Amino acid sequence: MRERILVTSALPYANGPLHVGHIAGAYLPADTYVRYKRLEGADILYVGGTDEHGTAIEIKALKDGVTPRELVDFYYEDMKTDFKNLGISYDNFSRTSLPVHHKTSQDFFLKILKNGHIERKTVTQAFCPKCNMFLADRYVEGTCPACSAPDQKGNQCEVCGKVLEPIELIDPKCITCGTTPEVKDTFQWFIKLGDFQDELEVWMKSNKHWRPNVVNFCLNWIKEGLQDRAITRDLQWGIKVPLEEGKDKVLYVWFEAVIGYVSSTKEWAEKQGKPDAWKDYWLDSKIVHFIGKDNIPFHAIMWPAFLLGYGEYEGRKWKLPYDVPANEYLNIGGKKTSTSRNWAIWLGDFLKDFPPDYLRYYLTSVAPESKDSDFLWEEFQKRINDELNDIIGNFVHRSITFAYNNFDGKIPALNRALLDDDDNEAIKNMQEVGKRVGDLITVFKMKDALKEVVSFAKSCNRYFDKKEPWKLVKSDKEKAGNTIYISLELAKTLSMVLNPFLPFSTEKMLKELGLGKFVWSDSAKLLLKSGKEISKPEPIFSKVPDEEIKRQIQKLENPAPMKKTLVKKEATPMIPFDEFQKLDIRTGKIVSVEDHPKADKLYVMKIDVGEERTIVAGIKSYYKKEELVGKKIVAICNLEPATIRGIKSEAMLLAADDGKLVALLEADKEMKTGAKIR
Ligand code: MF3
Ligand code: ZN
Repeated sequence: MRERILVTSALPYANGPLHVGHIAGAYLPADTYVRYKRLEGADILYVGGTDEHGTAIEIKALKDGVTPRELVDFYYEDMKTDFKNLGISYDNFSRTSLPVHHKTSQDFFLKILKNGHIERKTVTQAFCPKCNMFLADRYVEGTCPACSAPDQKGNQCEVCGKVLEPIELIDPKCITCGTTPEVKDTFQWFIKLGDFQDELEVWMKSNKHWRPNVVNFCLNWIKEGLQDRAITRDLQWGIKVPLEEGKDKVLYVWFEAVIGYVSSTKEWAEKQGKPDAWKDYWLDSKIVHFIGKDNIPFHAIMWPAFLLGYGEYEGRKWKLPYDVPANEYLNIGGKKTSTSRNWAIWLGDFLKDFPPDYLRYYLTSVAPESKDSDFLWEEFQKRINDELNDIIGNFVHRSITFAYNNFDGKIPALNRALLDDDDNEAIKNMQEVGKRVGDLITVFKMKDALKEVVSFAKSCNRYFDKKEPWKLVKSDKEKAGNTIYISLELAKTLSMVLNPFLPFSTEKMLKELGLGKFVWSDSAKLLLKSGKEISKPEPIFSKVPDEEIKRQIQKLENPAPMKKTLVKKEATPMIPFDEFQKLDIRTGKIVSVEDHPKADKLYVMKIDVGEERTIVAGIKSYYKKEELVGKKIVAICNLEPATIRGIKSEAMLLAADDGKLVALLEADKEMKTGAKIR
């Protein structure tokens, strides 16, 4: 049976561009793993998407002067492009603002509630009297009660990692106006994590193959006793709590974001035209969540608790994560990446200046797998020049060039009778390297796996140097042919085992050898055809000059000011006044409201606009029936009637839409129905 694996990478908040720290944490290692497993023949699916709700989004939108909708639309596209350019090979890249995700999250909430693990409780919450609102999460800043770090946000301390409630902060301030918040009573829904305490502890202790730092972190958390946690918030932008009493509240972003992995899998299945295909990946597979270390509690404790709380799905249990390979942080030049202090290397900028594989190579070679590591421009240059160019690129290039120049552009013959010890050792090495590299990738040791590849490349160069084919070709062409044949096989294997790390360059290398698609086991085989033509090789890599590194350091230390989200407004064309006059817009009243029999987001209403008309309107998510009956409205009455799911709509209500809310228009005085709007 093929191994079935579902891989996810943390859903980045769609509130700013990706930087290299993100990539080293949750994306590049996942992609390397997925690429390897695909070559190995696993039934593997890789899903992700953007995290589009929560105060991180609202606050950034506020700062940039755009709506949350405009913000997330912009960064969804921005991130999707960046990931594609870096070769992150998602099978599906979704977004948490999609209907499929709203539905899935509400279903999780209701199931866990029904199973008795969610409870409504009265809470005292930070409330800003000046802004007249409850302050969720990042709307409050103050000192961390656990480690005393100043200026921490109300959801989690960035320094010690403690997950917080805003009112726990010492000396709290409203971030909008600086006022010290009051505490006031309201209510929220809580998940009773304690219900899963024992089960989670037993499970966590059984995760022997996990990174010890992840397991220890979680066991400490569990030992402290799992507390009830609020999973709703007083916000506008987000997923509505699917209950009557919760209509002004939304699901907490960390409750729903993790469910985004399920939604993304469902979206993938829909797109395949096999809507049920998501199920096996969640109910019968190995699930691997790649994340950065700040996300550990959410993925390794809360998410498993949600899955346990849901109970069975169609009689099958949800699979708990098989592994959560969390990475530590990648610092930049010895300092923590900071968007607010503009200390970062942005992925988009990087990819304008260098090929994607250079970043993939360097970030893997300094992967923060067991401790924080550092991005240093000088080190980047050294790795690219001394390893990628001088060891890896050099071997492939010299082998192919030699064949091209000395063997008529053809792959020379292999004469087995003439093989000597060096040849046999080189072949043996070639047959074994794939397994060594693959085994390390399988246990998420990407850095060590890449080291294996580099040491293999070194041994290839040693073989070539020792055989001195440039001399041999003059004295014994047949033996020289053997050396070159073997060198080309080594170059092929090197390209294959390097492919999960450097997909773009290795594809070119294989092409120069006349090869295309392959599977992992091919790396252990002699498979080149003697006599086959090869094309004139081009160098695959080039060195990074000193000036370029100087320029990059300059840019890091004196960055251009952070760009705000640019939202391209569609230019609205001007129209002449008589066009406007053609519209028959009138005041009116809603007479009655019914559910549309065939569509769950639509109402069928009768309105009085001087005469009675039937209309179909998509405002069910925004208004309850009782709120609508008798309400004043404004409607366009001379649009050509449209039949919507079988019912003819004879007018259209006017409403304002700011991306967050939808509000019906009305005249601000009592008027007779049917008054003309002009
Ligand atoms: N958006 C979160 C962050 O950037 C990560 C969410 S991971 C998820 O830290 F799966 F929960 F969405
Ligand atoms: Zn305030």
